[in-house]
Amino acid sequence: VPNPLFGKSIIWSQDFHPDILEDLFARTYRYTHQRSNSMLHNKRFVMLFYEPSTRTRFSFEAAIDDLGGSRISTESAMHFSSATKGETLEDTIRVMSAYGDCIVLRHPEEDAAMRARDFLQSQDIWTPIINAGCGKGQHPTQSLIDLYTLYKAFGRMKDLTIAVVGDLKHGRTVRSLAYLLGKFRGNKIHFVSPVELSVGYDILAYLNRHETPFTQSTSLDPYIEEVDAVYMTRTQEERFENKDDSKRLKGSYRLTTALAERMRRDALIMHPLPKVGEIDEEVYRLPQAAFYQQSDNGVLVRKALLEMMFSPN
Ligand code: CP
Repeated sequence: VPNPLFGKSIIWSQDFHPDILEDLFARTYRYTHQRSNSMLHNKRFVMLFYEPSTRTRFSFEAAIDDLGGSRISTESAMHFSSATKGETLEDTIRVMSAYGDCIVLRHPEEDAAMRARDFLQSQDIWTPIINAGCGKGQHPTQSLIDLYTLYKAFGRMKDLTIAVVGDLKHGRTVRSLAYLLGKFRGNKIHFVSPVELSVGYDILAYLNRHETPFTQSTSLDPYIEEVDAVYMTRTQEERFENKDDSKRLKGSYRLTTALAERMRRDALIMHPLPKVGEIDEEVYRLPQAAFYQQSDNGVLVRKALLEMMFSPN
C-alpha cells in the first residue's frame, strides 16, 4: 500500500491523519542524519510565489536541491509573471503544470491552492499542488514544522497546552496549527487576541467537533505559567481592509522578558516568523526561545514531505 501522501496535493492541514504525522516526523528525524539523496532525481518543481517569502521558498528550494530535484522559480509572480497582464491563476497553473512535476504555490487568496488543484484535476491533470501559504486561509507546511518542533521538545503531540497570541483573524499559520492540534487528545488552546482579531468561528467549530478545549481572551497573563508553548504572531498589516485599524492594533502584544521569565523552563516560545517587534530582543537568550528551531526544522520537514509525495513507500 503506498503511503497516503504519494502523488497527492497538500492543501489543508486537516487532511493530515495522526498516523501520517507519525510517519512524516519519523522521516523528518532521519533527515537530521542524512542531508542528501537522489529521491527527486528528474523531478522539476515550479516555485510560484505571488507573495513575499523568506523561509518557505528558500527552505523548499534547499530541500529540493538536497534531494536531487530541480526547480524553476519566480519570487514575485504578481509582478514577474503574466498575472501582471491579467492572466488568471487557472491559466497560469495549467501552463506551468506542463513545465514541472509539482507546483509550490503561495498566493494572496485563501482558496488559491484548492482552486489550482481542482482546475488541473478537472482537465485530468494530476500534478500535485503544495499550498505554501494562501491568504488568511492556511499554511499547512508551516503547521507541520510547528507540530514537529513541539513533538521534538515534548516527545508527544497530545496533552499540550498552547497559547496563540496576536492577529488570529488573518494569521494562517495559527489556523493550520489549530487543525493539527485538534487531532490529538488532551490538547488545549488559549486564543489571545484583540476582540477585532479573534480566530474564525470555523476553527472554533472544528475544535468543538474534535472535543478540543479552548479559551478566548485578550490577555496572555493568566496563562503564561501554565502553558507548554506561547506561539506569538505578527499583525498581518497587508491583509487589513482598513489601514487605520492595522496601525491601531499593531503591537497589541509583546512578549517581554519579564513575561517570558514567568514561563516554565521547559516551555517553548514560538513564532512562525517574520517577527516584527512581538518579542523582546533579550528573550532570544532564554532557553525557551524556539523560533529559530522552527525555521531550522523547515528544511527537514519539507524534505520528509516531498519524500512522501514522490516515493510510494
Ligand atoms: N513562516 C513563513 O511562512 O515565513 P515566510 O513568509 O518567510 O515564508
